[in-house]
Amino acid sequence: MKFTVAIDGPAAAGKGTISRALADHFGFAHLDTGLLYRAVGVKGGDPVAAAQTLGAADLARDDLRGLAASEAASRVAAIPEVRAALVAFQRDFARRPGGAVLDGRDIGTVICPGAEVKLFVTASPEIRARRRWLEEGGTAAPETFEQVLEQVRARDARDMGRADAPLRPAEDAAQLDTTDLSIDDAVARAVALVQARL
Ligand code: C5P
Repeated sequence: MKFTVAIDGPAAAGKGTISRALADHFGFAHLDTGLLYRAVGVKGGDPVAAAQTLGAADLARDDLRGLAASEAASRVAAIPEVRAALVAFQRDFARRPGGAVLDGRDIGTVICPGAEVKLFVTASPEIRARRRWLEEGGTAAPETFEQVLEQVRARDARDMGRADAPLRPAEDAAQLDTTDLSIDDAVARAVALVQARL
């Protein structure tokens, strides 16, 4: 059985949490595609060569989380040859028997336009910056909340403004705004959407 769930949206809107919960609930495999771009971003050297030779060891590095890696990721993600080098791996993953959830920025629009379920997860920039800031350690973090908010806005602008595979909802995507939702409520809505199409 091929069953693909495509989840897109900006940083810290809740995509990762929702994707993992869906994968758990339905027994699907899960791929966080942001990790691919992060791994290319932190590898250094020529990003196109890094994307073409990306391997398991690159994806297992422990410095892929955090703001530095996400900044680097969003820069290399604007390079069309980098994106092209990562397409086949993502499409193969999406066709796994038993179902797959992929989350990123262009899954419903470019990687898996034929996905059985498409979900676009959003939240206000302020709430996303607050979540990111708390993840990074809250008051103990070196950045102030305002600096994190500024980074969230800058990354949104870069992801939505790039020419190749910009962040945008697919026309047939269901929208889920998590600004005022608890994690449990957001997950419950996503589970219901998938259940309705199984
Ligand atoms: O999802 P995450 O925050 O880890 O993604 C890091 C960066 O990688 C994003 O800001 C975006 O520029 C890029 N990305 C992308 N396409 C994807 C996943 C991530 O361009 N499918």
